[in-house]
Amino acid sequence: MIYDQELMTRLEEFLKENLKDHRLEHTYAVAEEAVKLAEHYGADKDKAYLAAMFHDMYRNLPNNVMNMYIRHFKLPERYCNNSNLAHSKLAASVMANNYDIDDQELIDAVSYHTTGRADMSLLEKIVFIADAIEPGRSYPGVNRIRTAAYEDINRACMLSLEGTVNFLRSKDAYIDPDTIEALEYLKGAKL
Ligand SMILES: [Fe+2]
Ligand SMILES: [Fe+2]
Repeated sequence: MIYDQELMTRLEEFLKENLKDHRLEHTYAVAEEAVKLAEHYGADKDKAYLAAMFHDMYRNLPNNVMNMYIRHFKLPERYCNNSNLAHSKLAASVMANNYDIDDQELIDAVSYHTTGRADMSLLEKIVFIADAIEPGRSYPGVNRIRTAAYEDINRACMLSLEGTVNFLRSKDAYIDPDTIEALEYLKGAKL
């Protein structure tokens, strides 16, 4: 393990105190899936595990507290009142500022796990897809993404991003520009 036991213990205690049971289960399931994907694609398993353990650490924070942190870390205003997006950015800031993590690839894997972005690293794709396919996930189309994940991770990312865009469009909800750019990059075409 490249990161010490003290950091892991601190993080695990934080997760136990701050996440609801199903979210805690999800976190461990994502970590397990991320390690499997890292093994499959020859990526760094320790980094995949650690990024997954951090990824949803603020998923259960109330909006008002989240907004306070967004301002504290001077994150873009567009994340206010949108915990769907904000929890990723906040976790990335806290990793760097409070957990002394300076590995940018690791921080980016957490930062972009919800939206994706153009030209993701392999680690970013692994965390993004592990989050979408861990065994507890069930939504229309998940099995196609599960199969694609171990055949062609780019196709898996594309399917997952397409699902997100279609879902958000059907609800007339805000779509983050990073999501659009991620999909356009993988398709090699403008949406
Ligand atoms: Fe998340
Ligand atoms: Fe997640």
